[in-house]
Amino acid sequence: MNYEDRVAKRAKSIEISTIRYFFNMVKDVPGAISLTIGEPDFVTPRHIIDAAYESLLEGKTGYTVNAGLIELREEISKYLKRNYNVGYKPDGEILVTIGATEAIYIALNTLVEDGDEVLIPEPSFVAYDPCTKLAGGKSVFVPTYEEDNFVLKAETLEKYITDKSKVLVLPYPNNPTGAVLPYEEMVKLADIVKKYDLLVVTDEIYSELVYDGFKHVSFASLPNMWERTVLINGFSKSYAMTGWRLGYIAAPEYFVKHMTKIHQYDVTSASTQSQYAGLEAMKNGENDIKFMREKYDERRKFLYDSLIDMGFECFEPKGAFYIFPSIKKTGLTSAEFAKRLLYEAKVAVVPGSAFGEHGEGHVRMAYATSLDNLKEAVKRIEKFLRNFK
Ligand SMILES: Cc1ncc(COP(=O)(O)O)c(C=O)c1O
Repeated sequence: MNYEDRVAKRAKSIEISTIRYFFNMVKDVPGAISLTIGEPDFVTPRHIIDAAYESLLEGKTGYTVNAGLIELREEISKYLKRNYNVGYKPDGEILVTIGATEAIYIALNTLVEDGDEVLIPEPSFVAYDPCTKLAGGKSVFVPTYEEDNFVLKAETLEKYITDKSKVLVLPYPNNPTGAVLPYEEMVKLADIVKKYDLLVVTDEIYSELVYDGFKHVSFASLPNMWERTVLINGFSKSYAMTGWRLGYIAAPEYFVKHMTKIHQYDVTSASTQSQYAGLEAMKNGENDIKFMREKYDERRKFLYDSLIDMGFECFEPKGAFYIFPSIKKTGLTSAEFAKRLLYEAKVAVVPGSAFGEHGEGHVRMAYATSLDNLKEAVKRIEKFLRNFK
C-alpha cells in the first residue's frame, strides 16, 4: 500500500520553495558568501530581548487572547495612524499573527473560495501562490517589467482580470525586485480595483525599508480602499525579529472576525513573549529601525554601484533589502548562473525563476549582510565574470 497516494491533492499541489533549495546548497560549498536569504543580519535590539525576558520572569507564560495582547494592538493601531494615516480599532480590526506568513495564509483563506482567481504580480514573494492554492483558488500571475521599474501597471493588471478575479495581492516594497509603488501608480490601480470590485491584500512587511526619500503609502489610505483592503505587516524585517515570528493584520471588522477563527483553530495565539517583545519594539524601536535602514542603504548603494561598474544591467531598488540584476547577457538561465556562481566563485544568490516565470533572466541578491561580506562577494563576482566562458 502506498500511503503517500492518500495525501490530499491540495497538499500535493504545492512545492517547497526553491529559495530554500539554494540556501541549503550553500552548505555544501565551504567559504561561500550567501546573499540568498531575506533575513536581517542584525540581532534583535537588546531592549526588545529584555522586554521578552522580563515578561517571562514576571510569569507571563500563558496564552493571550486570540487576537493578541490588547496593549500590542493599541500600539499597532497608533503606529499605523502615525506612519500611514490609516485608522484601525485595536479591538476588532487588528489581529496579531505568527509573522506576515500566517497573515498571508489567513487572509487568502478568508477571502478566497473554490475557483476564485487571485491576481499576483510577478516576480514576487513565494507564499502567495501556494496559499491561494491551499484556499482552493487559482493564481493569476500579472507580469511586472524592468522597464517599468517592476511597478505593477494598471493597464497590465486590467488585461488579466476575468469575471472570476476576486483578490489582488499588492506586495510593495517588493521581494525580490526591491521595487516600490509610487503614489500616482497606486491611484491608477485603485481605479481598476473599484471598476472590477476587487478585494486587496497588501503585504507591507518592508514598509520601513525604503530609501532615497521615498515615502511608503498604505493602499488602504486611498479613498474608498480601506473597506476592501487587508493590510499585512510585521516585525521580522524592520526590527530584525524574524525568529520571533510576529506579524499582524489590520482590516475592517467584517474580515477580521472571520480571520480570527482561522487563527484560533490554527495556532490559538502568537507566542506571548514575542508579543511582549513586539510591544517594546513598537514603543521604543524607532531608532533601531533608523539605524538598520541607514546600514542597508549604505550597502544598497555599494552593491548597486558595484554591479553597474561590472557591467550588469540593473534597476536601482528603492525598498526592501534586495537587488535584482539582469544576467541575460551571460546567455545562462538564472538557475545555471546561480549554480555556476556558487561553485566557481563561492557566492550564493537566488535565481529569479524562483519567483516565477517573469523573474527569469535575473538573480536576487540580498544585501542584509555586512559591507565586508558584500565587498568580498563583489570581488569574487568580478573575477567570475573576467574568467567567464
Ligand atoms: C514579501 C514578504 N512577505 C512576508 C514575508 C514573511 O515574513 P514573516 O517573517 O513576518 O513571516 C517575507 C519574508 O521573506 C517577505 O519577503
